[in-house]
Amino acid sequence: MRTSELRTILLAASFAVFATAAGAAPPAYIQSCADCHGNNGISADGKFPTIAGMSAFYLEGQIEAYQKGQRPCPKTSDPVKKAETDMCDIAKKLTPDQVKETAEFFAAQKFVAAQQPVDATLAAKGKSIHDAHCEICHSDGGSQAIDDAGILAGQWKPYLVTTLAEYHDGKRIEPEKMKPQTKALSADDIKALAEFYAGEESK
Ligand code: HEC
Ligand code: HEC
Repeated sequence: MRTSELRTILLAASFAVFATAAGAAPPAYIQSCADCHGNNGISADGKFPTIAGMSAFYLEGQIEAYQKGQRPCPKTSDPVKKAETDMCDIAKKLTPDQVKETAEFFAAQKFVAAQQPVDATLAAKGKSIHDAHCEICHSDGGSQAIDDAGILAGQWKPYLVTTLAEYHDGKRIEPEKMKPQTKALSADDIKALAEFYAGEESK
């Protein structure tokens, strides 16, 4: 068994104990994420990525990247609180323990693919780019949380386009070996990849 697989199982088990001991409702600092990311991290709005079911390791890394300003933090409006904020501000309010607990909470939720139309011709082009350059790390069409690389299959297209453009422009921190792959993508390639991932169900 891979270490990351074991880690996922252990985290899921420890969360189950926490949930039973503390009752069903997560703490307020976790509940507030639902304003934008949806119930249990399943987003109903293409502006906000679904964060349910990604590995705790990946989620923790991203929250820390926002805390350190290593990811762009576009201003975003909280549809519930009706206030302007951004992910860096939100992440900076969490203590290290809260970051861990938040990551474990969302990792224990089930990823549900976003409902969105898919252009089959573009998706086929995206699949050939993915198979040649991305599948090696984002296995099974980018659907496997144990790759510790997010979940691409079934993610919202607007988010995928934004974040791939950030990688392409060198604005979001990324693994050294992924850099040449995202650098080489044209705007059309990015659109095609987003169509491909949108059409892939999370497995
Ligand atoms: C006001 C809306 C809003 C709230 C509230 C919010 N987020 Fe976000 N979140 C966003 C947006 C917008 C993005 C995409 C930003 C970008 O392009 O990097 C994002 C991105 C993320 C990502 C990156 C996802 C990925 O696939 O890499 C994580 C992780 C995340 N948020 C976690 C959280 C957590 C945990 C909370 C609660 C503590 C939270 N967010 C609260 C708007 C919000
Ligand atoms: C060498 C391995 C590797 C290759 C090749 C690679 N990636 Fe990644 N990718 C990763 C890792 C690891 C992460 C998580 C980065 C982090 O923790 O910040 C990631 C993150 C991502 C994310 C962010 C997911 C999210 O939820 O925000 C996207 C999108 C992505 N990769 C797309 C691609 C595409 C498209 C390609 C091919 C053109 C590609 N990657 C090639 C390893 C790779």
